[in-house]
Amino acid sequence: MSHAEDFDSDRRDFLYYATAGVGTVLTGAAIWPLIDQMNPSADVKALSSIRVPIDGVEVGTQLTVKWRGKPVFIRRRDQDDIERARKTKIEDLPDPLARNANLPPDAPATDENRTLDEKGEWLVEMGVCTHLGCVPLGGKSGDFGGWFCPCHGSHYDSAGRIRKGPAPENLPIPVATFIDENTIKLG
Ligand code: FES
Repeated sequence: MSHAEDFDSDRRDFLYYATAGVGTVLTGAAIWPLIDQMNPSADVKALSSIRVPIDGVEVGTQLTVKWRGKPVFIRRRDQDDIERARKTKIEDLPDPLARNANLPPDAPATDENRTLDEKGEWLVEMGVCTHLGCVPLGGKSGDFGGWFCPCHGSHYDSAGRIRKGPAPENLPIPVATFIDENTIKLG
């Protein structure tokens, strides 16, 4: 990957769409818990459901939106992300559950149970580390080509499943649906 692409994908990690009306730009992984504590609960209530336009999200990039006071990662995965996630065996996952609010609580953490579409191109997950709540870094970060939480070293794979480090669970998947091919609804 060139420096230019690298820079671009880093920037995309921290882009917010302004549709929710309360967009805040994050500047670092460790800063979220502080911001989160300062958010009034009215803010959370006001955003029970939002629509996110995704037509500008290119393959291999991620959009971050704020929803119910927390970051949500919307990643449009490339073929490499999909293949690596789909060939991973459940036995190799520290957390074998999908953690997908759209499925039963005991659904296994297959890649198919984590993605929003059948092809596995779209992954929508909370951008909050399940250890102590930092915002993991994206752009194929960490040892498993997904997200890396630098706070205490948790590595997530390209399906947002915890693979190494202190985080106990996969990144949670919120209630999400396609409204049309260019719009995802959260909540
Ligand atoms: S908060 Fe992510 S590893 Fe501790």
